[in-house]
Amino acid sequence: MTSALASRTLLLIISGGIAAYKSLDLIRRLKEEGAEVRCILTEGGAQFITPLSVSALSGQSVFTDLFSDQEEQRLAHIRLSREADLIIVAPATANMLAKMAHGLADNLASAVLLASNKPILIAPAMNNIMWQHPATQANIATLRARGAYQVGPSSGMLACGEQGAGRLAELDDILAAIHNFFSKNKPLTGRRALVTSGPTFEPIDPVRFLGNRSSGKQGHAIASALVTMGAEVTLVTGPTSLPAPNGVTTISIETAQDMLQACQSCAAQMPPLDIAICAAAVADWRPETTSTSKLKKGESTSPPALTLTENPDILATISQPGTLRPKLVIGFAAETDHVTENAQAKFTRKGCDWLLANLVGANKGFGQDNNQITLIKRAPDGAMTNDTWPAASKHEIAETLATHIVHFFEG
Ligand code: CTP
Repeated sequence: MTSALASRTLLLIISGGIAAYKSLDLIRRLKEEGAEVRCILTEGGAQFITPLSVSALSGQSVFTDLFSDQEEQRLAHIRLSREADLIIVAPATANMLAKMAHGLADNLASAVLLASNKPILIAPAMNNIMWQHPATQANIATLRARGAYQVGPSSGMLACGEQGAGRLAELDDILAAIHNFFSKNKPLTGRRALVTSGPTFEPIDPVRFLGNRSSGKQGHAIASALVTMGAEVTLVTGPTSLPAPNGVTTISIETAQDMLQACQSCAAQMPPLDIAICAAAVADWRPETTSTSKLKKGESTSPPALTLTENPDILATISQPGTLRPKLVIGFAAETDHVTENAQAKFTRKGCDWLLANLVGANKGFGQDNNQITLIKRAPDGAMTNDTWPAASKHEIAETLATHIVHFFEG
């Protein structure tokens, strides 16, 4: 059988970590599958492996220098990206992640990455404390939000003698991630999905609104994970600072009423929705009246009273039985206390099929890069089941959820 990698052009960027020696084996495995492998070796990478071994295995010249005057290396930062189907950064050091996240272009590798609009797969490898550092976590989160794919790092004994997360992913896992990227057989191909994300803003007057702390990170990550698995995804999002995820139809709204309308018009389109995931933090109430001009302090002796009226419940509306009801409706429960009890009550009230409960509050849930989820479902006998997942990044949670969805549709 022909490999999905045959005749693909892969650009492998090897940065300076001890795991660089493993990239030699990666080149060999990719070549065995028929891929054309071009390599950039950073100055740091060349401290661990030689350009000669990289070129001998890849069968190509190795690119190292941004300012080379050799004919074939000239303008390499433009050409290498243009000709690649996928850029793989393995190992990606903490320094390389920082350069990528901040758009530095001070060597050939970072210049290629900045001069590129090609998909990128990142395989981080570093000391566990460097990996856990908030700076590195923020950098990888930025890169993921821009659509980069990530594999690893895995946990175990590190070259520095410490134990923890930071090992380069196993070669089999890196290869699987590359295959997954090129795979025609995406398990959610042909499925239509709707995802809500972010907060809603409910206007008081033209400059003030009622809002909440939702960043949209979890909903956007879910939309990306579903697209990666082949689904056709519409994302209806409240105001966030996140870029629209690649490959997703994104509809930006402000209020709960607009979100409901956008969701209903998406649900009315053909073919019917297979999946709806309500990850938005919808405002439960809105001001009963919105002033068309800015409320002025001097106009009354006391502060204005705000009368609120209830917003439509989008999840409960989508969950109602009917021909437009998606086959699988998933909600979230944001709770500050008694997570399981409150979430179970919410699950029954909303009428959805699954509910992902998470703890929110000071430094938890909203705005954070990590999350802890309990998935509530109903067993065939009607009893509720609770499955608590290990704490993980919002991207990992999105991928786990997407895998559960694939299993649901595979029966
Ligand atoms: N939700 C919705 N429309 C609303 C309120 C909530 O679609 N008007 C959805 C959210 O997207 C989430 C689920 O309902 O999937 C639960 O949201 P949450 O804020 O946890 O609960 P509420 O329904 O607002 O209830 P409470 O504020 O009492 O916790």
